[in-house]
Amino acid sequence: MKRTFLNRILLIMVALLTMACSNDEEGQAKALTMTAGKTLVVFYSYTNNCRDIVTMLTSQIEADVLEIQPAEKGQRYEANNYALGTQLLNAIKANPNSASSYPAIDPVATSLTDYQNIIIVTPLWWSQMAAIMQSYLFSFGPQMAGKNIGLIVSSASSGISGVVADCKRLVPNGNYFSQNLWINNSNRSNRSSLIQNWLTAINYNSVSAIHSPQQSAKQSSAFYTLSGQKVAQTRKGIYIVNGKKKLMK
Ligand SMILES: Cc1cc2nc3c(=O)[nH]c(=O)nc-3n(C[C@H](O)[C@H](O)[C@H](O)COP(=O)(O)O)c2cc1C
Repeated sequence: MKRTFLNRILLIMVALLTMACSNDEEGQAKALTMTAGKTLVVFYSYTNNCRDIVTMLTSQIEADVLEIQPAEKGQRYEANNYALGTQLLNAIKANPNSASSYPAIDPVATSLTDYQNIIIVTPLWWSQMAAIMQSYLFSFGPQMAGKNIGLIVSSASSGISGVVADCKRLVPNGNYFSQNLWINNSNRSNRSSLIQNWLTAINYNSVSAIHSPQQSAKQSSAFYTLSGQKVAQTRKGIYIVNGKKKLMK
């Protein structure tokens, strides 16, 4: 009699515990759905052209903004015929896989976990991505796996293919938008409408439409952890699959 009573109490406790756990999981899934689709604009700017672009961009879309700053202040990258800028880029080129090749930047507190879309706005230096932005992407690019990546490049006149290549090296597993945006001295005065046209061209408001069918099929089988590590086998937890968060039970 005593034992049956104890067994009942035990059964009720187990049932309550199970309910609490499943509610917790549902709550987590709801919170994730609500944050999906957030956009982060990350930029570096030496002479404020990229800063202007970001101001115009964020007047057209809702986004959080992260500015990357060099740790060493007051540097003149263009002095002595661009000697310092050249030196920084040459160091990266000589050893692109070593963290010590990249110029130090101020600590970055922004976590990428909540963002599904990341728009990188960077100057071009000697047909490459500005060294300071490369430093940020060297550290954080791997965490952008599976996220939608937009690239806006500002140059005086040089074409941006080298910057695109740098971006793909540093963010190898991003879902790149179908077009990048290049703003230069000759089209700078139209930058507001160029941004607007670009957002329309990449179908920004309907992000699901940005992948080609082949890309989607390829990415649908890949699972990434929230910190961007590709996993061969999933366990219980949250993963990024095909650019979206997925809760594995
Ligand atoms: C070190 C350095 C190298 C540059 N190299 C080039 C170049 O090769 N071609 C070009 O068209 N512009 C070059 N520029 C100009 C910048 O790309 C351009 O002014 C850009 O708009 C700067 O953006 P920001 O004002 O946000 O720094 C260079 C600028 C710097 C500082």
